[in-house]
Amino acid sequence: MSPKPLDVHGSFDFTTDMNVLITGSSGQIGTNLALAMMARGDRVIGVDCRRNSWTDKIETVQADLVTCGVDRLPKPDGLNLVVHFAANAKVFDLVTDPQRAMDNISSLFTVLNYCRIHRLPIIFASSREVYGDIHRHITHETSADFVVAESPYSASKIAGEALIYSFAQCYELPFLVFRFSNVYGRYDCDIERMERVIPLFIDRIARDQPIVVFGREKVLDFTYVDDAVAGVLLGADALVSGRVMRETINLACGQGNSLVDVVNIIALALGKKPQVRYEPSRVGEVTRYVADITKARTLLSYEPRTPLSEGLVKAVEWTKSFRKL
Ligand SMILES: NC(=O)c1ccc[n+]([C@@H]2O[C@H](COP(=O)([O-])OP(=O)(O)OC[C@H]3O[C@@H](n4cnc5c(N)ncnc54)[C@H](O)[C@@H]3O)[C@@H](O)[C@H]2O)c1
Repeated sequence: MSPKPLDVHGSFDFTTDMNVLITGSSGQIGTNLALAMMARGDRVIGVDCRRNSWTDKIETVQADLVTCGVDRLPKPDGLNLVVHFAANAKVFDLVTDPQRAMDNISSLFTVLNYCRIHRLPIIFASSREVYGDIHRHITHETSADFVVAESPYSASKIAGEALIYSFAQCYELPFLVFRFSNVYGRYDCDIERMERVIPLFIDRIARDQPIVVFGREKVLDFTYVDDAVAGVLLGADALVSGRVMRETINLACGQGNSLVDVVNIIALALGKKPQVRYEPSRVGEVTRYVADITKARTLLSYEPRTPLSEGLVKAVEWTKSFRKL
């Protein structure tokens, strides 16, 4: 398939009717986003290499983006946005198996080619990992310095951003890059697949099992999933209508909390006394990050509503409603 000829400013049909393809639609943020978009009347089609284990409401094409090629992706008829969330998203897994970082780059390349051929704007899920472990007090978008790549996962997001910027440059592709940070909440407790710290702590503390905190000193920016999704929705509307594009934006809570805070709030919400052992941070892990979210506020009127103390209580309640603890 060859791309339509370049016609820089006339080739994108900016509109507000949303018809979106979401990759990684069986994952945590993808499931939340797809359901939120469908609830407000948008048409959503998902792509993921796994079936969705949370809901059967999202129409999903099952395909591995590393190998499938653009022709296996859904027909672009009527689509006006692609949200690319598919990735191997667990930092330490990619330290042990760096091929999974390369797969992230290949997946994005497939999706970018699809967007280039069909002239579709793209939202890309990047990460605070692109900043490395730099210990700045507050992290602003311009402070990314790519020689500080902390892990193969960081490198895959840095490479991903570079590919996006190059496609924007050479093919005038409209994009928004969102740098997420520790998103937690609904649809994240599939611990067998993906051992994330917050669902893991909720599960173990609830069962009176010991937990290990890697990095007592870590201060991170934990984002409740509804805030992350609200930010993406604002971005999607702004991008599809042509109001905001070619921007890289931190999407987080904008507050730093330690893992000790996380443990204590979860234990309080569960009415348990946690058994905690502390170990040093593991290779490749970021130990300090607090996002500057001024840009999201300014460009998108984004306003996070859920501080950690409230978000963790909601996460505990949701986990209890979802499965017996
Ligand atoms: N959740 C966070 O805290 C966080 C933080 C920073 C960045 N991100 C990024 O946001 C995006 C979404 O994160 P999430 O938390 O929903 O992750 P997730 O692991 O829950 O979901 C990712 C989905 O992508 C799918 N996928 C992976 N490789 C694929 C491939 N080759 N082909 C098709 N599907 C594939 C997986 O099956 C999974 O369902 C990811 O790109 C992640 O790197 C997430």
